[in-house]
Amino acid sequence: MNLSDFREDYRRGDLDRAALNASPFTQFEQWFREAIGASSQSRWRKIGIALYHLWSAIRNHRPADMNAMTLATVDADGKPSTRTVLLKSVDARGFIFFTNYDSRKGRELARNPHAALTFFWSALERQVCVAGTVTKLPVTESEAYFKSRPRGSQIGAWASNQSEIVQNRGILENKWRELEQKFSNEVPLPPNWGGFILNPERIEFWQGRPSRLHDRFCYYRQSDGSWKIERLSP
Ligand SMILES: Cc1cc2nc3c(=O)[nH]c(=O)nc-3n(C[C@H](O)[C@H](O)[C@H](O)COP(=O)(O)O)c2cc1C
Repeated sequence: MNLSDFREDYRRGDLDRAALNASPFTQFEQWFREAIGASSQSRWRKIGIALYHLWSAIRNHRPADMNAMTLATVDADGKPSTRTVLLKSVDARGFIFFTNYDSRKGRELARNPHAALTFFWSALERQVCVAGTVTKLPVTESEAYFKSRPRGSQIGAWASNQSEIVQNRGILENKWRELEQKFSNEVPLPPNWGGFILNPERIEFWQGRPSRLHDRFCYYRQSDGSWKIERLSP
């Protein structure tokens, strides 16, 4: 497969130092709202996003989950792994996602809490890259989120030894049915399931531009908690 002619020229927007919020969290929220079409910098961009959603609907093409992000972790030998997880909230502590603590990512984060996240919002030709350290979310907060999940997913969390080898799908489905009967009322939080908070040390905002002269601004957390913003070469 040769993809050498498979390329886009990015021209849907630009990013100015003056337009950046002093807080990368506020900046992230603004970009996220724009990615889901909830707000927009300009009328033209809003129309562009509306047309993109219409085109996706006509083609019966479900737009990507805008809160989906690639999470990178490393194992004991420094070898990286990535996978997609869903961002479930952002607050002053950082970026929060949920998973099985005994999964590959859970085990790698327990050993080495350094991780990175990437969002790619193709309709806006934007990328956000986050790097920092991860801690577990307090169990009361994991419990509150677990309770809000559909019952099927709650049972799924008990049924799956995430990342372990399973001989066939039937084993999983039988286990799910057994647990469905066992937890006839409320499904408790599995002891090995919950949230992680990635507390960022740096957050980079990338806007695609023509001729690969993209705009990149990176926020670096300073020792006093403030953020220093630098433009990076594309
Ligand atoms: C769109 C999408 C969203 C996902 N969200 C999550 C999630 O929030 N938490 C999770 O544990 N796995 C999620 N997964 C599955 C993971 O990508 C991965 O298969 C799983 O967590 C096991 O990863 P690991 O073996 O590297 O630990 C998602 C996958 C996709 C494609």
